[in-house]
Amino acid sequence: MATSTSFSYCSSLFLSILIISGFVFAEMVNSMGINYGQIANNLPSPDDVVPLVKSIGISKIKLYDADPKVLKAFANTGVQFIVGLGNEYLTKVQDPAQAQNWVKSNVQAHLPATNITCIFVGNEVLTFNDTSLSNNLLPAMQSVHAALVSLNLDKQVTVTTAHSLSILETSFPPSAGAFRQDLTGCITPILNFHSKTGSPFLINAYPYFAYKSNPKQVPLDYVLFQPNSGSLDSGTSLHYDNMLFAQIDAVYSALAALGFKKLPVHISETGWPSKGDEDEAGATPENAKKYNGNLIKLICQKKGTPLRPGSDLNIYVFALFNENMKPGPTSERNFGLFKPDGSPAYSIGLSVSNSSFGNGNSSSNSGSGSGGLVNPITPSAPGTSSSGYLAISSAAVTERCHVIGLIPMLVVLLLRAVSAQAF
Ligand SMILES: *[C@@H]1O[C@H](CO)[C@@H](O)[C@H](O)[C@H]1NC(C)=O
Ligand SMILES: *[C@@H]1O[C@H](CO)[C@@H](O)[C@H](O)[C@H]1NC(C)=O
Ligand SMILES: *[C@@H]1O[C@H](CO)[C@@H](O)[C@H](O)[C@H]1NC(C)=O
Ligand SMILES: *[C@@H]1O[C@H](CO)[C@@H](O)[C@H](O)[C@H]1NC(C)=O
Repeated sequence: MATSTSFSYCSSLFLSILIISGFVFAEMVNSMGINYGQIANNLPSPDDVVPLVKSIGISKIKLYDADPKVLKAFANTGVQFIVGLGNEYLTKVQDPAQAQNWVKSNVQAHLPATNITCIFVGNEVLTFNDTSLSNNLLPAMQSVHAALVSLNLDKQVTVTTAHSLSILETSFPPSAGAFRQDLTGCITPILNFHSKTGSPFLINAYPYFAYKSNPKQVPLDYVLFQPNSGSLDSGTSLHYDNMLFAQIDAVYSALAALGFKKLPVHISETGWPSKGDEDEAGATPENAKKYNGNLIKLICQKKGTPLRPGSDLNIYVFALFNENMKPGPTSERNFGLFKPDGSPAYSIGLSVSNSSFGNGNSSSNSGSGSGGLVNPITPSAPGTSSSGYLAISSAAVTERCHVIGLIPMLVVLLLRAVSAQAF
């Protein structure tokens, strides 16, 4: 273990090199969130993840726990957090004293320096089909909420849970979206809880899984946000040219059918793996780059879905890193935008034109200020960028999203330097 002194020394070294090299942080206007999963034994320390996250303009992070190392590292960064309370605590946390202890040490302790805005209690609980677990979900959420109330934190921190899309019985056409009938008895009181406390409904939605289970029938372009003829929802006459939006609108329809038309829906996970087993169709770097690159452009456009035009998509991409210790098929370990060394798992499909960094000219820009460093960027044809940048832009798409880029080589070198220092 490293001492905190070496961590902070290394982080500031890391940061200053990024800055000296002409790197300019993205303006935090992007509403893209990311899932920071840590089921791995080779990830960089959270202190070193801060500049990486900031460099790609991410303003919201979802954690699966409330890792104090991460929450401390991101203090005073302006990044918002959703923290998780695992399924294994659903029983325990129903005890008001335990709930209060949990909130005190995992949430209150980090406020206000780290902006924790939401606690998600349980992950995909209802689709385990374990009734005793499901029956514990709402009481656990209520107990955590009561603890927040007693600590006077309920106005700034909301309580929710994250569902798998398979809580839907019908998802197509989107206007026919409906929850599994056997779950509505359990879901309705949870929706009442959301309405009463003002918390969002979280859904994990993966067009990838639909494609993987039926690659012959599901058009790849439709799931990858590529140009395609799409499909018409005969119930609404709305046109869908991508599966994710159809899935989101199916959720809105399912909520409306139970009388919850106004609940905000957040997409707590979506993503595409860059690698999979032989029988996992579509899990390639090219497809991952199309899915996530096109998704980021859509997030930047802020146009909402056909059924909810103009609504904030509130999407959390899964995931920040490849996670080498996740069980299951190979794809499970390869959803990351980044490899553990901080280099992009694949180029995201947008490249920086006229960039002054990453091309051997970076150091010549030291001290020259930010002028000219954040350059207009244009989408490149897929595969034409050989730079290996992860560069996500919006300039080409809208004025609001700004240049987001990073220098993978630099990041790799620095992470190496940091580990050499720290261990
Ligand atoms: C935390 O995030 C919320 C939601 O965006 C924002 O309204 C609030 O001002 C932030 N708080 C701090 C202390 O930055
Ligand atoms: C849960 O039950 C549903 C509906 O009966 C079924 O379709 C689904 O496959 C089950 N899931 C698991 C993980 O057993
Ligand atoms: C970008 O570079 C190209 C070729 O070097 C040049 O023609 C173009 O004017 C530059 N664009 C900007 C905005 O600087
Ligand atoms: C580096 O910058 C100089 C001067 O600005 C320019 O002439 C040269 O072409 C650049 N080199 C690369 C590799 O872009």
